[in-house]
Amino acid sequence: MATHDPSIKQLAGLKIPYARHPRVRAIKRQGHYPSMHGTKLWSASGVLIDYIASTTAIAPQSVIDAGCGWGLAGIWCAKTFESAVASVDADASVMPYLELVADLNEVEITPVVARFEQLDTALLGATDWLIAADVCFWDELVNPVTSMIKKAIESGTKRIMISDPRREPFFDMADTILSDYGGELVEWRVGDSRHSGVILVVENA
Ligand SMILES: C[S@@+](CC[C@H](N)C(=O)[O-])C[C@H]1O[C@@H](n2cnc3c(N)ncnc32)[C@H](O)[C@@H]1O
Repeated sequence: MATHDPSIKQLAGLKIPYARHPRVRAIKRQGHYPSMHGTKLWSASGVLIDYIASTTAIAPQSVIDAGCGWGLAGIWCAKTFESAVASVDADASVMPYLELVADLNEVEITPVVARFEQLDTALLGATDWLIAADVCFWDELVNPVTSMIKKAIESGTKRIMISDPRREPFFDMADTILSDYGGELVEWRVGDSRHSGVILVVENA
């Protein structure tokens, strides 16, 4: 019988360590302190996972999880679809947490330290999905996130899904994408829980 570990919670069938988990504490002791809000799992990733689980007919072979933080959405794709996942974040300090969550869930992802601006057309065009959760939270992020999505659409990424807890910069970014390329802004709630958000979806197949 499986024993209950109080330092781990379950979400979408995945194991997520709490801050009190001994391996999270060890990473902090080593001095890894994320500086751009990659300090925990954000609820927009749970909303994105629930949307993907409810709407996906064809499993992606490859996924980029941009601004991955602890990487839950990409890790879920790796576990559920056996996709090759590149988990990308500008902040190198998130990588030990990302690798811990992947390890607890027995999946392999490829950690990549890079900014949105550095994702090139060759990589985006060769990738089935671009996903991101809660990555447009400052006004300064509107241009880089908008450019990354434009680049993905123009280079042929098949499906783009960006979830958000309804922050103003996200809507500024989404307005530009919707008027230049079309797509859909989907309101999504996880079951009857309090977790909800909005997802910009561009089907580009
Ligand atoms: C609010 S957290 C969301 C993390 C994760 N997606 C989640 O839902 O739990 C935003 C993440 O975006 C990353 N980030 C911020 N600016 C970035 C940039 N220009 N390029 C790549 N990643 C960036 C941060 O380091 C952080 O991990």
